[in-house]
Amino acid sequence: MSDTDAFEPVQNASAPSPAVGHSDTVVIMPETRPEWSRRNFIKGVIASGVTVSGAIYFGPALTRPQSLSAQGVERLITLNINGQTRRVDVLPGETLAMTLRYKLGLTGTKLGCDRAECGACTVLISDVNHYSCTLLTHRVGNREVTTVEGLEGANGQLHPVQQAFIDELSPQCGFCTPGQVMSAVALLRSNPNPTRDEARIAMAGNLCRCGAYDHYLNGVMRAAEETSNA
Ligand code: FES
Ligand code: FES
Repeated sequence: MSDTDAFEPVQNASAPSPAVGHSDTVVIMPETRPEWSRRNFIKGVIASGVTVSGAIYFGPALTRPQSLSAQGVERLITLNINGQTRRVDVLPGETLAMTLRYKLGLTGTKLGCDRAECGACTVLISDVNHYSCTLLTHRVGNREVTTVEGLEGANGQLHPVQQAFIDELSPQCGFCTPGQVMSAVALLRSNPNPTRDEARIAMAGNLCRCGAYDHYLNGVMRAAEETSNA
């Protein structure tokens, strides 16, 4: 009897089986009974491994008595966005970029790669530039978040960096521009008079698919010069 013969009847218990005896009586032949064999053993190990790995993957959702999505109070958090207190319902795995764009309507923050590679989603958190696409909103806490919308002056005037970018014709398609602006603002807040190389390094996390890097650098240096002379 082969290993295959030993296993197959278990799967086909309701299928016609070799039978002997009276027509009303079905007797399973010994060859069709499940038996321990090396093949059965290996299949059992594989099956239990799948069960364990599946439990790990689905475990949190399956084992919690109540899913997080049902715990509305836990999801409702307070954020400090652009100087305003905002109450928002945030999913456990939600990124700050998603919250800003799709819960708070702050679409100036762009989503490019959505995996910390392009810088389109850059915002300031306590004046430090961060990729908001890979930061969980629940990790922000009460720190101050600034988006490109938050740079607007009291009378609606542009931030000096924004004006300098316009003057230097930095944006081409403009998709990377909000992220470039936020990184430049973060740089000038920590280092108001950077060298061109310092600015180049500080802006290195912001990709520009249009290749307008020198235009953006010119804008950063112009903004630094104009704010230091103001
Ligand atoms: S969208 Fe966040 S780094 Fe690209
Ligand atoms: S201006 Fe087009 S991606 Fe930078």
